[in-house]
Amino acid sequence: MTIIKRKFDVVIVGAGGAGMRAALQLSEAGLKVAVLSKVFPTRSHTVAAQGGIAAALGNVTEDNWHWHMYDTVKGSDYLGDQDAIEFMCRQASEVVYELEHYGMPFDRLENGKIYQRPFGGQSQNFGGAQATRSCAAADRTGHAMLHTLYQRNVRAYTQFFVEWMGLDLIRAEDGDVCGVTALDIETGEVMALLARATLFATGGAARIFNASTNAFINTGDGLGMAARSGIPLEDMEFWQFHPTGVHGVGVLISEAVRGEGGYLLNKDGERFMERYAPHAKDLASRDVVSRALTMEIKEGRGCGRDADHLLLKLDHLGADVIRARLPGIREIAMKFANADPIHAPIPVVPTAHYMMGGIPTNFWGQVVAPYKTGPEEVVQGFYAAGECACVSVHGGNRLGTNSLLDILVFGRAAAVKIIEDLKKNPHHKPLPGDAADKALARLARLDSQKDGENVAQVTATMRKTMQAHCGVFRFPDMLRQGVEKMGEVAKRARQTEIKDKSRVFNTARIEALELDNLIEVAMATMVSAEARTESRGAHARDDFPQRDDDKWLKHTLYFSEDRRLDYKPVRLKPLTVESFPPKARTY
Ligand code: FUM
Repeated sequence: MTIIKRKFDVVIVGAGGAGMRAALQLSEAGLKVAVLSKVFPTRSHTVAAQGGIAAALGNVTEDNWHWHMYDTVKGSDYLGDQDAIEFMCRQASEVVYELEHYGMPFDRLENGKIYQRPFGGQSQNFGGAQATRSCAAADRTGHAMLHTLYQRNVRAYTQFFVEWMGLDLIRAEDGDVCGVTALDIETGEVMALLARATLFATGGAARIFNASTNAFINTGDGLGMAARSGIPLEDMEFWQFHPTGVHGVGVLISEAVRGEGGYLLNKDGERFMERYAPHAKDLASRDVVSRALTMEIKEGRGCGRDADHLLLKLDHLGADVIRARLPGIREIAMKFANADPIHAPIPVVPTAHYMMGGIPTNFWGQVVAPYKTGPEEVVQGFYAAGECACVSVHGGNRLGTNSLLDILVFGRAAAVKIIEDLKKNPHHKPLPGDAADKALARLARLDSQKDGENVAQVTATMRKTMQAHCGVFRFPDMLRQGVEKMGEVAKRARQTEIKDKSRVFNTARIEALELDNLIEVAMATMVSAEARTESRGAHARDDFPQRDDDKWLKHTLYFSEDRRLDYKPVRLKPLTVESFPPKARTY
């Protein structure tokens, strides 16, 4: 079958913060840029980011990038690569001011400077007093950022393909990446988008879990496409559970609530975080706080009829602060928990939130993987940035508000690198004859499958399996069984049937294609988690409760084709400063 082909200098898959920041740099440099998005760009999941962007501006408390770097290394439980962390923290102030100059409507302090609030794991002077580092637009920072970037991209003539889904990566005969196949959701048409550089910015995939703060679009499409084309996935055992998702629905209640002075209570009215993190209390790192909530529930100190949640109290902040600084939180609490936080606490539970792992890249966004000669090297033409990438700056646990920073710094860095690389590579690679075969075969199966299982049923089984077998605490038998169960779910996913075979705006077809990607992510997670016999960051094993630096100070690489694992060392050497050697992590 012949399909339509279109040529661009750069194709970006994903229109969240990373994709749009990169697109802006590229379009303003005069390149022809296509951005594909399953949803209207300003509805990308970055829109849901609430609390802020970490940058050591020092507007409220004294601060500097080196303290930020220390906190990030410690927060990562020493699995983060220190050169990449230095790169990110050093650039933080610059990318925030740049955004301010693009028109981002940050909240302001009395003196007119950007408003900053404290977040978990932030300290002054390498582990001292709490720092105040997160630059915020009320509790809608991601929303403000996405609109700012979108408007600027429109001005720069970035070409958006709205309601288009990436299907598969196109690799030339020599393995270099030369574009993607994509599906127009509205018409069902498949197209090959050829590019001299292809950037994945497809965001997260926490929809592999039953309870998630993520949008339904977060199905790991970039990871699925990369894995199917032989690129390994890095550190997939590390998933962040945000301590405060609304009980029963999972919607995010920002850590900004605790940053502004809110705190957690158990059924006895006790501020239990004082026991788990005597110094930082409610502003310890998220892995620590989520484990504490889970322990409180397990030990019978949960709240409510089923003793299955904790309470987040903020009424003492006063109506004015809540209305000015946390208006979105108030709205969410009233809508989803029937609780007005001006008067009543919000019922919360730890909820899957963020993927620390992803497509392996260096800090210029270049994908780095075993390739032409076998050992790891840069995959020519292929870049990734944002949550779908593993740089790795977050290691075993990300600090709150380092995610918006990550997408700005690495979206921009990838674009800078692409501009440089394209000067050396002025021509498109010849398209291989079988460029679209994989994608067309998947669609053909969906169009012909009879007597198959319902996609939603298989997806639900996958989510329940992940939730039960690979949650906040991980148990050896559950992980072993989880690997087997995910194998069965993967087989079932290959035999799903969509009843309505129409190609036009068929959401069942999209969900089936998304399931392929979710399964890649879920399987990578389960296999990688089962193998890592230590506890580090968000990976907490019941049978191996300690961190084991002798054996496990290394990154996992998972290969989808044969579910094989390999490992590579953590880069402990920063760019210019002294390394922070691993030590016991307390808050
Ligand atoms: O709690 C929050 O506002 C989330 C921020 C983040 O994940 O960085």
